[in-house]
Amino acid sequence: MPKPKVYVTRKIPERGLKIIREQLETEVWPDYAPPPKKVIIGKLANADALVSLLSDKIDAEVFDAAPKLKIVAQIAVGFDNIDVKEATKRGIYVTNTPEVLTDTTADFAWALLMAIARRMVEADRYVRTGQWKVGWHPEMLQGRDIHGVTIGVVGAGRIGYGVAKRATGFGMKILYYDVIPRPEMEKELGAKRVGLDTLLKESDFVSLHVPLMKETYHMINEEKLKLMKKTAYLINNSRGPVVDEKALYKALKEEWIAGAGLDVFEQEPTPVNNPLLKLDNVVVAPHISSASYETRSKMAEMVAENLVAFFEKRKPPNLVNPEVMKIKPL
Ligand code: GLV
Repeated sequence: MPKPKVYVTRKIPERGLKIIREQLETEVWPDYAPPPKKVIIGKLANADALVSLLSDKIDAEVFDAAPKLKIVAQIAVGFDNIDVKEATKRGIYVTNTPEVLTDTTADFAWALLMAIARRMVEADRYVRTGQWKVGWHPEMLQGRDIHGVTIGVVGAGRIGYGVAKRATGFGMKILYYDVIPRPEMEKELGAKRVGLDTLLKESDFVSLHVPLMKETYHMINEEKLKLMKKTAYLINNSRGPVVDEKALYKALKEEWIAGAGLDVFEQEPTPVNNPLLKLDNVVVAPHISSASYETRSKMAEMVAENLVAFFEKRKPPNLVNPEVMKIKPL
């Protein structure tokens, strides 16, 4: 029996790739930058499986050109780049890589939070560029306290929970907003569920952890930013389009809020002339919240496990569209 064919849109960590290569006939796009959509479409004329990244748009056009495609295994927890409804309609399984990246991503939200509140990046530039001319001054590079203040977690799923859990170590009061109550946040972390507007009004740090969906697109817009305290910070390592970036620029420039820590942008890579990059009260990163060696290796391994399970006719452990099993049983 010939092995099923898989197209992998980027070199993923070896721990996963090795397993995939052993089990499937594997072709990997060799470049650092993503393959153009027409390359993916061309490769899928003949492939049974696709390993996708969040920067690959996998939609009806792709599926229509992929008569043999049976499974899309995404290396990310978010899968807003994949039209899951269209996949399901065609009996195509879709998987993701949840949980392994929860703590790593929560760590990074905290890295952004601490960096912006305590002006770490500005301070680093200050020293390197020779601006540190006076040994110590009581008013040099003052930031804001993290311990003992209020954090508002928007979206209290796994990553939101992880961020809130870390906040307990800093003696913070924890508010959360979620469409569904999260009793574990309340029982285990003493968090309080409030409406979004209340959270924005009362928090010193607002950290976003919602998936990108119709309902969360530009959830943080001008009106919402105006509710925040002038001394508050916005942290976003969920998805860029959850925040209206133009409104955020205005909020930061006109000092309606104190600062922002951003790992995600409306367009990625964000253009170097994005006006946000001109502001000192912003700390940025290039969408690397889950990028630890350990976690990225585990994510690649999960991708392999999902593919192997599927081709062994077992339910993939991280199936995001279980309803597909009725349309196309294993
Ligand atoms: C990264 O953003 C992910 O969704 O895993």
